Amino acid sequence: MIWTVNRLAHKVLTCVAAACLGGCGGDPGTPTTHDVIVIKFPHVVAPGTPKGQAAARFEELAEARFPGRVDVEVYPSAQLMNDDDSIEALAFGEIQMIAVSLSKFDRLTHAFQVFDLPFLFPDIAAVERFQRGPTGRQLLATLADEGFLGLGFWHNGMKHFGAGNPLRSPQDADGLKFRIMESDVLQAQIEAIGGNPQKMAYGEVYQALQTGAIDAQENTWSNIYSSKFYEVQPYFTVTNHGYVGYLVAVNPSFWNSLPDDVRTGLEEIVAEVSEWENAQSIAINEQSLARLRDSERTTILELSDEELTAWRTAVAPVWDEFADNIGSEIIEAARGAATVD
Ligand code: LMR
Repeated sequence: MIWTVNRLAHKVLTCVAAACLGGCGGDPGTPTTHDVIVIKFPHVVAPGTPKGQAAARFEELAEARFPGRVDVEVYPSAQLMNDDDSIEALAFGEIQMIAVSLSKFDRLTHAFQVFDLPFLFPDIAAVERFQRGPTGRQLLATLADEGFLGLGFWHNGMKHFGAGNPLRSPQDADGLKFRIMESDVLQAQIEAIGGNPQKMAYGEVYQALQTGAIDAQENTWSNIYSSKFYEVQPYFTVTNHGYVGYLVAVNPSFWNSLPDDVRTGLEEIVAEVSEWENAQSIAINEQSLARLRDSERTTILELSDEELTAWRTAVAPVWDEFADNIGSEIIEAARGAATVD
Protein backbone atom coordinates (compact mmCIF):
# COMPACT_ATOMS: atom_id res chain seq x y z
CA MET A 1 0.00 0.00 0.00
CA ILE A 2 2.20 2.75 -1.37
CA TRP A 3 -0.03 5.58 -0.25
CA THR A 4 0.03 4.37 3.32
CA VAL A 5 3.80 4.27 3.37
CA ASN A 6 4.09 7.73 1.84
CA ARG A 7 1.47 9.15 4.13
CA LEU A 8 3.11 7.56 7.12
CA ALA A 9 6.46 9.11 6.25
CA HIS A 10 4.78 12.49 5.82
CA LYS A 11 2.94 12.04 9.10
CA VAL A 12 6.07 11.17 11.03
CA LEU A 13 7.74 14.34 9.76
CA THR A 14 4.67 16.38 10.65
CA CYS A 15 4.57 14.87 14.11
CA VAL A 16 8.22 15.59 14.74
CA ALA A 17 7.67 19.19 13.70
CA ALA A 18 4.54 19.43 15.82
CA ALA A 19 5.87 17.62 18.85
CA CYS A 20 6.89 20.76 20.72
CA LEU A 21 3.46 22.21 20.03
CA GLY A 22 1.96 19.27 21.81
CA GLY A 23 0.30 17.12 19.21
CA CYS A 24 0.30 14.90 16.18
CA GLY A 25 -2.37 15.35 13.52
CA GLY A 26 -2.87 11.56 13.37
CA ASP A 27 -4.69 11.67 16.67
CA PRO A 28 -8.11 13.11 15.99
CA GLY A 29 -8.09 14.63 19.47
CA THR A 30 -10.57 14.51 22.30
CA PRO A 31 -13.20 17.21 22.08
CA THR A 32 -13.80 19.03 25.35
CA THR A 33 -17.27 20.16 26.33
CA HIS A 34 -16.51 23.59 24.83
CA ASP A 35 -15.31 22.37 21.45
CA VAL A 36 -17.60 22.37 18.46
CA ILE A 37 -17.34 18.88 17.01
CA VAL A 38 -16.64 19.26 13.32
CA ILE A 39 -17.50 16.30 11.10
CA LYS A 40 -16.03 16.67 7.63
CA PHE A 41 -17.91 14.36 5.29
CA PRO A 42 -16.72 14.45 1.67
CA HIS A 43 -18.21 12.32 -1.08
CA VAL A 44 -17.93 12.20 -4.86
CA VAL A 45 -21.48 12.20 -6.23
CA ALA A 46 -24.05 14.92 -6.87
CA PRO A 47 -26.32 16.22 -4.08
CA GLY A 48 -29.42 14.74 -5.75
CA THR A 49 -28.21 11.13 -5.64
CA PRO A 50 -29.26 8.74 -2.84
CA LYS A 51 -25.96 9.29 -1.04
CA GLY A 52 -25.98 13.04 -1.69
CA GLN A 53 -29.45 13.38 -0.19
CA ALA A 54 -28.62 11.16 2.77
CA ALA A 55 -25.44 13.07 3.61
CA ALA A 56 -27.40 16.34 3.58
CA ARG A 57 -30.09 14.79 5.78
CA PHE A 58 -27.48 13.57 8.25
CA GLU A 59 -26.07 17.10 8.43
CA GLU A 60 -29.49 18.62 9.00
CA LEU A 61 -30.56 16.14 11.70
CA ALA A 62 -27.22 16.13 13.52
CA GLU A 63 -27.03 19.91 13.71
CA ALA A 64 -30.66 20.19 14.79
CA ARG A 65 -30.14 17.67 17.59
CA PHE A 66 -26.85 19.20 18.81
CA PRO A 67 -27.10 22.93 18.03
CA GLY A 68 -23.75 24.66 18.48
CA ARG A 69 -22.08 21.38 19.45
CA VAL A 70 -21.92 19.49 16.17
CA ASP A 71 -21.02 21.02 12.83
CA VAL A 72 -21.30 18.65 9.86
CA GLU A 73 -19.55 19.83 6.70
CA VAL A 74 -20.69 17.85 3.66
CA TYR A 75 -18.58 18.24 0.50
CA PRO A 76 -20.36 16.64 -2.50
CA SER A 77 -19.13 16.04 -6.07
CA ALA A 78 -15.47 15.37 -5.11
CA GLN A 79 -15.13 19.06 -4.16
CA LEU A 80 -12.77 18.19 -1.31
CA MET A 81 -11.15 14.94 -2.46
CA ASN A 82 -11.72 11.73 -4.37
CA ASP A 83 -12.71 8.46 -2.70
CA ASP A 84 -9.22 6.99 -2.52
CA ASP A 85 -7.95 10.09 -0.76
CA SER A 86 -10.94 10.10 1.58
CA ILE A 87 -10.24 6.52 2.70
CA GLU A 88 -6.73 7.57 3.54
CA ALA A 89 -7.78 10.85 5.15
CA LEU A 90 -10.29 9.09 7.40
CA ALA A 91 -7.69 6.59 8.56
CA PHE A 92 -5.42 9.51 9.48
CA GLY A 93 -8.17 11.43 11.25
CA GLU A 94 -8.09 14.32 8.79
CA ILE A 95 -11.77 13.90 8.00
CA GLN A 96 -14.38 12.29 10.22
CA MET A 97 -16.92 10.50 8.03
CA ILE A 98 -17.13 8.78 4.65
CA ALA A 99 -19.63 6.85 2.56
CA VAL A 100 -17.43 5.18 -0.04
CA SER A 101 -18.38 2.44 -2.50
CA LEU A 102 -17.77 -1.02 -1.08
CA SER A 103 -15.76 -1.86 -4.22
CA LYS A 104 -13.14 0.72 -3.27
CA PHE A 105 -12.09 -1.03 -0.04
CA ASP A 106 -10.58 -3.81 -2.12
CA ARG A 107 -7.01 -3.28 -0.93
CA LEU A 108 -8.14 -3.42 2.72
CA THR A 109 -10.44 -6.45 2.68
CA HIS A 110 -11.47 -9.21 0.30
CA ALA A 111 -14.75 -9.73 2.14
CA PHE A 112 -16.48 -6.85 0.32
CA GLN A 113 -15.64 -8.43 -3.05
CA VAL A 114 -18.88 -10.35 -2.65
CA PHE A 115 -20.75 -7.15 -3.53
CA ASP A 116 -18.96 -7.00 -6.90
CA LEU A 117 -19.64 -10.57 -8.04
CA PRO A 118 -21.51 -10.07 -11.32
CA PHE A 119 -25.19 -11.03 -11.36
CA LEU A 120 -25.10 -12.29 -7.76
CA PHE A 121 -27.81 -9.97 -6.45
CA PRO A 122 -30.84 -9.69 -8.76
CA ASP A 123 -32.03 -6.47 -7.15
CA ILE A 124 -31.65 -4.11 -4.19
CA ALA A 125 -34.12 -6.10 -2.08
CA ALA A 126 -31.73 -9.07 -2.22
CA VAL A 127 -28.78 -6.91 -1.17
CA GLU A 128 -30.87 -5.53 1.67
CA ARG A 129 -31.69 -9.03 2.95
CA PHE A 130 -28.01 -9.96 2.86
CA GLN A 131 -26.83 -6.80 4.63
CA ARG A 132 -29.46 -7.14 7.35
CA GLY A 133 -28.61 -10.79 8.00
CA PRO A 134 -25.90 -12.03 10.40
CA THR A 135 -23.16 -12.19 7.75
CA GLY A 136 -23.97 -8.72 6.51
CA ARG A 137 -23.84 -7.33 10.04
CA GLN A 138 -20.43 -8.94 10.50
CA LEU A 139 -19.20 -7.32 7.29
CA LEU A 140 -20.11 -3.93 8.72
CA ALA A 141 -17.51 -4.48 11.44
CA THR A 142 -14.87 -6.01 9.15
CA LEU A 143 -12.68 -2.92 8.88
CA ALA A 144 -12.95 -1.59 12.44
CA ASP A 145 -9.40 -2.68 13.25
CA GLU A 146 -8.13 -1.01 10.09
CA GLY A 147 -9.48 2.36 11.17
CA PHE A 148 -12.97 2.25 9.62
CA LEU A 149 -15.82 1.81 12.05
CA GLY A 150 -18.84 0.88 9.93
CA LEU A 151 -22.04 2.58 11.04
CA GLY A 152 -24.24 1.42 8.18
CA PHE A 153 -24.61 0.42 4.57
CA TRP A 154 -26.26 2.79 2.13
CA HIS A 155 -27.50 1.66 -1.26
CA ASN A 156 -27.06 3.45 -4.48
CA GLY A 157 -28.49 0.96 -6.96
CA MET A 158 -27.92 -1.65 -9.63
CA LYS A 159 -25.33 -1.06 -12.35
CA HIS A 160 -25.76 -0.93 -16.11
CA PHE A 161 -23.32 -0.60 -18.96
CA GLY A 162 -22.91 2.41 -21.22
CA ALA A 163 -20.73 2.70 -24.33
CA GLY A 164 -20.14 4.52 -27.59
CA ASN A 165 -21.67 1.57 -29.48
CA PRO A 166 -24.72 -0.51 -28.59
CA LEU A 167 -23.81 -3.33 -26.18
CA ARG A 168 -26.22 -6.15 -26.91
CA SER A 169 -23.90 -9.09 -26.45
CA PRO A 170 -20.57 -9.54 -24.66
CA GLN A 171 -18.92 -9.63 -28.10
CA ASP A 172 -19.89 -5.98 -28.53
CA ALA A 173 -17.60 -5.17 -25.59
CA ASP A 174 -14.58 -6.74 -27.21
CA GLY A 175 -11.52 -4.48 -27.05
CA LEU A 176 -13.38 -1.53 -25.46
CA LYS A 177 -11.75 0.44 -22.67
CA PHE A 178 -14.08 0.33 -19.66
CA ARG A 179 -13.74 2.61 -16.66
CA ILE A 180 -14.19 0.63 -13.46
CA MET A 181 -13.96 1.36 -9.74
CA GLU A 182 -10.82 0.25 -7.91
CA SER A 183 -11.79 -3.43 -7.60
CA ASP A 184 -10.07 -6.58 -8.82
CA VAL A 185 -13.41 -8.35 -9.24
CA LEU A 186 -14.59 -5.62 -11.59
CA GLN A 187 -11.31 -5.88 -13.45
CA ALA A 188 -11.85 -9.63 -13.95
CA GLN A 189 -15.46 -9.02 -14.96
CA ILE A 190 -14.45 -6.67 -17.77
CA GLU A 191 -11.67 -8.98 -18.89
CA ALA A 192 -14.21 -11.82 -19.03
CA ILE A 193 -16.21 -9.91 -21.65
CA GLY A 194 -13.09 -9.09 -23.66
CA GLY A 195 -12.84 -5.47 -22.52
CA ASN A 196 -9.86 -3.52 -21.28
CA PRO A 197 -10.53 -2.37 -17.68
CA GLN A 198 -9.23 1.01 -16.47
CA LYS A 199 -9.41 1.81 -12.77
CA MET A 200 -10.26 5.49 -12.52
CA ALA A 201 -11.64 7.97 -9.99
CA TYR A 202 -15.30 8.83 -10.45
CA GLY A 203 -14.62 12.53 -10.98
CA GLU A 204 -12.53 11.77 -14.08
CA VAL A 205 -15.11 9.66 -15.91
CA TYR A 206 -17.03 12.39 -17.76
CA GLN A 207 -13.92 13.87 -19.30
CA ALA A 208 -12.46 10.47 -20.10
CA LEU A 209 -15.64 9.60 -22.02
CA GLN A 210 -15.65 12.97 -23.73
CA THR A 211 -12.04 12.74 -24.91
CA GLY A 212 -12.26 9.07 -25.84
CA ALA A 213 -9.72 8.04 -23.20
CA ILE A 214 -12.31 5.39 -22.33
CA ASP A 215 -15.10 3.93 -24.47
CA ALA A 216 -17.43 2.51 -21.87
CA GLN A 217 -18.36 2.45 -18.19
CA GLU A 218 -20.76 0.87 -15.72
CA ASN A 219 -22.81 2.67 -13.11
CA THR A 220 -26.24 3.27 -11.61
CA TRP A 221 -28.92 5.38 -13.26
CA SER A 222 -28.66 8.04 -10.57
CA ASN A 223 -24.91 8.42 -11.13
CA ILE A 224 -25.23 8.25 -14.93
CA TYR A 225 -27.94 10.91 -14.91
CA SER A 226 -26.61 13.27 -12.24
CA SER A 227 -23.06 13.22 -13.65
CA LYS A 228 -24.44 13.73 -17.16
CA PHE A 229 -22.66 10.76 -18.68
CA TYR A 230 -25.51 10.68 -21.20
CA GLU A 231 -24.11 13.85 -22.77
CA VAL A 232 -20.99 11.95 -23.81
CA GLN A 233 -22.28 8.38 -24.06
CA PRO A 234 -24.85 7.51 -26.75
CA TYR A 235 -25.86 3.98 -25.64
CA PHE A 236 -26.83 2.38 -22.36
CA THR A 237 -27.87 -1.21 -21.79
CA VAL A 238 -30.18 -2.27 -18.95
CA THR A 239 -28.25 -5.16 -17.38
CA ASN A 240 -28.62 -4.90 -13.58
CA HIS A 241 -25.36 -6.87 -13.53
CA GLY A 242 -23.89 -5.46 -10.32
CA TYR A 243 -24.42 -3.36 -7.24
CA VAL A 244 -23.17 0.02 -6.03
CA GLY A 245 -23.51 0.62 -2.31
CA TYR A 246 -21.53 2.30 0.40
CA LEU A 247 -19.91 1.70 3.75
CA VAL A 248 -20.72 4.63 6.00
CA ALA A 249 -17.69 4.78 8.26
CA VAL A 250 -16.00 6.92 10.89
CA ASN A 251 -12.56 6.86 12.42
CA PRO A 252 -12.88 4.73 15.62
CA SER A 253 -10.52 6.92 17.71
CA PHE A 254 -12.49 10.01 16.81
CA TRP A 255 -15.81 8.31 17.41
CA ASN A 256 -14.84 6.88 20.78
CA SER A 257 -13.53 10.26 21.88
CA LEU A 258 -16.96 11.90 21.48
CA PRO A 259 -19.04 12.67 24.58
CA ASP A 260 -21.36 9.70 25.17
CA ASP A 261 -24.57 11.62 24.50
CA VAL A 262 -23.25 12.94 21.17
CA ARG A 263 -21.92 9.58 20.01
CA THR A 264 -25.15 7.80 20.88
CA GLY A 265 -27.26 10.54 19.35
CA LEU A 266 -25.26 10.54 16.12
CA GLU A 267 -25.48 6.76 15.88
CA GLU A 268 -29.25 7.00 16.20
CA ILE A 269 -29.30 9.61 13.44
CA VAL A 270 -27.12 7.47 11.14
CA ALA A 271 -29.48 4.55 11.73
CA GLU A 272 -32.49 6.72 10.91
CA VAL A 273 -30.84 8.19 7.81
CA SER A 274 -29.74 4.72 6.68
CA GLU A 275 -33.34 3.47 6.80
CA TRP A 276 -34.46 6.54 4.91
CA GLU A 277 -31.67 6.36 2.33
CA ASN A 278 -32.18 2.69 1.63
CA ALA A 279 -35.92 3.17 1.24
CA GLN A 280 -35.41 6.09 -1.21
CA SER A 281 -32.65 4.66 -3.36
CA ILE A 282 -34.80 2.59 -5.72
CA ALA A 283 -37.18 5.47 -6.42
CA ILE A 284 -34.31 7.92 -7.01
CA ASN A 285 -32.74 5.56 -9.54
CA GLU A 286 -36.07 4.98 -11.28
CA GLN A 287 -36.59 8.71 -11.51
CA SER A 288 -33.09 9.14 -12.99
CA LEU A 289 -33.82 6.48 -15.60
CA ALA A 290 -37.07 8.21 -16.52
CA ARG A 291 -35.23 11.52 -16.88
CA LEU A 292 -32.58 9.87 -19.03
CA ARG A 293 -35.29 8.54 -21.33
CA ASP A 294 -36.98 11.95 -21.40
CA SER A 295 -33.72 13.65 -22.35
CA GLU A 296 -33.85 11.84 -25.72
CA ARG A 297 -30.08 12.27 -25.84
CA THR A 298 -29.25 8.64 -25.49
CA THR A 299 -30.54 5.21 -26.47
CA ILE A 300 -31.44 2.79 -23.70
CA LEU A 301 -31.36 -0.82 -24.82
CA GLU A 302 -33.46 -3.50 -23.14
CA LEU A 303 -32.20 -7.07 -23.50
CA SER A 304 -34.16 -10.28 -23.96
CA ASP A 305 -33.72 -13.08 -21.40
CA GLU A 306 -31.59 -14.91 -23.94
CA GLU A 307 -29.32 -11.92 -24.46
CA LEU A 308 -28.95 -11.45 -20.70
CA THR A 309 -28.02 -15.10 -20.34
CA ALA A 310 -25.10 -14.56 -22.71
CA TRP A 311 -23.74 -11.83 -20.38
CA ARG A 312 -24.23 -14.03 -17.33
CA THR A 313 -22.41 -16.90 -18.98
CA ALA A 314 -19.50 -14.71 -20.07
CA VAL A 315 -18.83 -13.40 -16.56
CA ALA A 316 -19.60 -16.63 -14.65
CA PRO A 317 -15.89 -17.64 -14.31
CA VAL A 318 -15.28 -14.53 -12.16
CA TRP A 319 -17.13 -16.21 -9.28
CA ASP A 320 -14.70 -19.13 -9.21
CA GLU A 321 -11.72 -16.84 -9.48
CA PHE A 322 -12.66 -14.93 -6.30
CA ALA A 323 -14.43 -17.63 -4.27
CA ASP A 324 -11.42 -18.40 -2.07
CA ASN A 325 -10.66 -14.74 -1.47
CA ILE A 326 -14.17 -13.97 -0.32
CA GLY A 327 -14.86 -17.18 1.57
CA SER A 328 -17.61 -19.74 1.06
CA GLU A 329 -19.60 -18.68 4.13
CA ILE A 330 -20.03 -15.13 2.82
CA ILE A 331 -20.86 -16.27 -0.70
CA GLU A 332 -23.40 -18.80 0.54
CA ALA A 333 -25.10 -16.22 2.76
CA ALA A 334 -25.28 -13.80 -0.17
CA ARG A 335 -26.65 -16.48 -2.49
CA GLY A 336 -29.22 -17.44 0.11
CA ALA A 337 -30.38 -13.82 0.35
CA ALA A 338 -30.38 -13.53 -3.43
CA THR A 339 -32.59 -16.53 -4.04
CA VAL A 340 -35.20 -16.02 -1.29
CA ASP A 341 -38.24 -14.35 -2.72
C1 LMR B 1 -18.10 5.24 -8.72
O1 LMR B 1 -16.91 5.52 -8.53
O2 LMR B 1 -18.57 4.94 -9.82
C2 LMR B 1 -19.04 5.29 -7.53
O3 LMR B 1 -18.37 4.77 -6.43
C3 LMR B 1 -19.44 6.69 -7.22
C4 LMR B 1 -20.36 6.73 -6.04
O4 LMR B 1 -19.95 7.17 -4.97
O5 LMR B 1 -21.51 6.30 -6.22
